[in-house]
Amino acid sequence: FCIPRPPRQLFEFDGTNTSGTAAKPPGKPYPPYLLAKFSWNNVTGSLDPATLSATFQGHPIHDPTGAFTNGSLTFRVQAFPRSGRPTQPPRLLHTADTCQLEVALVGASPRGNRSLFGLEVAMLGPGPACPSVQGQQSIDDEYAPAVFQLDQLLW
Ligand SMILES: *[C@@H]1O[C@H](CO)[C@@H](O)[C@H](O)[C@H]1NC(C)=O
Ligand SMILES: *[C@@H]1O[C@H](CO)[C@@H](O)[C@H](O)[C@H]1NC(C)=O
Ligand SMILES: *[C@@H]1O[C@H](CO)[C@@H](O)[C@H](O)[C@H]1NC(C)=O
Ligand SMILES: *[C@@H]1O[C@H](CO)[C@@H](O)[C@H](O)[C@H]1NC(C)=O
Repeated sequence: FCIPRPPRQLFEFDGTNTSGTAAKPPGKPYPPYLLAKFSWNNVTGSLDPATLSATFQGHPIHDPTGAFTNGSLTFRVQAFPRSGRPTQPPRLLHTADTCQLEVALVGASPRGNRSLFGLEVAMLGPGPACPSVQGQQSIDDEYAPAVFQLDQLLW
């Protein structure tokens, strides 16, 4: 078994070349933002029975550069009672009884002129049982008016 662990760091790199980022960082890393040092909203007030969703929204408690003066990092968890597509792109098809985690970084100022942000994702599990990541074809269909890359975890 493997269980996803909540992300601990928001990364920022000085670079915009996203090819090959699985093997090496896209550029010089800035000091990461530690999510444990964020102030988070009270999630209870964000529970929405109509959309079966809850939102965690936070920003750094200490923000010496002022990057998050108007910014926030948001995690939104939504459960789907039936199959369909969400209203927001990339509108991936989902089945009933599944849930989605949406991550949004909004309004934060980059620390350079060509910043690329990344979020740490980790899986916990007993060694070889952990999945590998396989890049899939990009999604570019009538439901997604942009190009998205789909990465698949394979056990
Ligand atoms: C981006 O990085 C890849 C792999 O490191 C490299 O082959 C490619 O030339 C780079 N592209 C640009 C525009 O620098
Ligand atoms: C969060 O909000 C709920 C209800 O709105 C309240 O009962 C609870 O005490 C709050 N928790 C914190 C840590 O403020
Ligand atoms: C935050 O927003 C205010 C009002 O729009 C703007 O004047 C200010 O420059 C912004 N600060 C940053 C760090 O983006
Ligand atoms: C961003 O670009 C401007 C204009 O070229 C330059 O003055 C500034 O120093 C650059 N900022 C950083 C952080 O590199």
